[in-house]
Amino acid sequence: MSDQEVFRHPSDSALQQAALRVYERCESLAAISCLTNGVGRYYLTPEHATCNQRVLAWMSEAGMQTWIDAAGNCWGRWACDNPDAQTVILGSHLDTVAMAGKYDGILGVLSAIEVVELLKTEDVTLPFHIDVVGFGDEEGVRFGTTLLGSAAVAGRWQNDWFNLTDENGVTLAEAFRQFGLNPEEIGSANRAKDDIKAYLELHIEQGPVLEQMGLPVGIVTAIAGARRFRFTLKGLAGHAGTVPMSMRRDPLTAAAKILTEIENLAIANSVVATVGKLEVRPAAVNVIPGECVFTLDIRSSEDTVRDKTVSAIFAVAEAFCESSGIDLDTEEFHHADAVECAAWLQTKIEQSLREVELPVHSLMSGAGHDAMIFGDVFDIAMLFVRCEKGISHNPAEAVDVADVRAGLQVFARLLGNI
Ligand code: HGY
Ligand code: MN
Ligand code: MN
Repeated sequence: MSDQEVFRHPSDSALQQAALRVYERCESLAAISCLTNGVGRYYLTPEHATCNQRVLAWMSEAGMQTWIDAAGNCWGRWACDNPDAQTVILGSHLDTVAMAGKYDGILGVLSAIEVVELLKTEDVTLPFHIDVVGFGDEEGVRFGTTLLGSAAVAGRWQNDWFNLTDENGVTLAEAFRQFGLNPEEIGSANRAKDDIKAYLELHIEQGPVLEQMGLPVGIVTAIAGARRFRFTLKGLAGHAGTVPMSMRRDPLTAAAKILTEIENLAIANSVVATVGKLEVRPAAVNVIPGECVFTLDIRSSEDTVRDKTVSAIFAVAEAFCESSGIDLDTEEFHHADAVECAAWLQTKIEQSLREVELPVHSLMSGAGHDAMIFGDVFDIAMLFVRCEKGISHNPAEAVDVADVRAGLQVFARLLGNI
């Protein structure tokens, strides 16, 4: 058989072995956590450094050249024979949310390494280089702004991000230096001008669609755009027993009304809106709150619908605060518009699915991904893998080895088809 033929049929045992190793390695990385009761691994922390070293070692075992770029992302390259060839980047993220699952992001990086192993085992030669990347910060947990690692690679870094601080007041610039990075060199992580044929990302669906349809994998059509805000409401702290209700300036009751309206407006406009954080100060049982801060994450596949809903939410918030003498301050700290996956790559994934006799289903992604930052930089595609009950950002996140194996099989074949 030609090597293309051999390549087209990675043996069942090779696929099964690869899937099991991905599974085991996800377990291994999940143990690298700053939390004692769950998975938490954040950008430029000691846990990030440990995780990078372990992933670089696995990339080396796969025969890849490895390096860490100026943004702390870890890379492995499997070069083809032609030094002037294009490059296909296979990536996802190695950081997590707090109390995370074991597969969000991680599965994509480890599956990419396994796909390289499968191709090398089958003695396949490709007409392009493969670069596997593990991004250091997709979730934005430590510094609040997401996609920092991939933004550097996409040439979309913003230097004012270096002034962002974490909950201990450590600036991003200091965190760079503590990690052994030089903020002045961030520009060297930029690959936007390189000859990149495609950016491909395998990721768990983080939703219930594939499971409901009984499908192991799915083709992503587009990634929803997200905007994130911080609302700060300031009233007048006071004695819980002495201040009549009519004389209060209670920011928490104003926030409660706003949150109810956020839910109503999201439902009415068919967008998703989440208040994930709410802090009350001084947070004492017998004190009328003086200040209340909450976050808003709002998403839609239609940027215009999302933005119309944002305007409606702001109008309601201003009205409630005005009528109750509350000072309102808002800050937008994330804005990513919806991104389409390249049609030609979606077609190639469909061809690959048919060749391995897997059902074809396309769906959009409500979750954000590193891929979205490359939307107008490289051609992007995503392959979703079913996850149990669609649960994610939760220790109960689970995937089936058979679905990991399906993802590997399709991904490996896709590289032979593009
Ligand atoms: O929030 C998201 O959509 C992604 O998981 N960071
Ligand atoms: Mn996530
Ligand atoms: Mn993710």
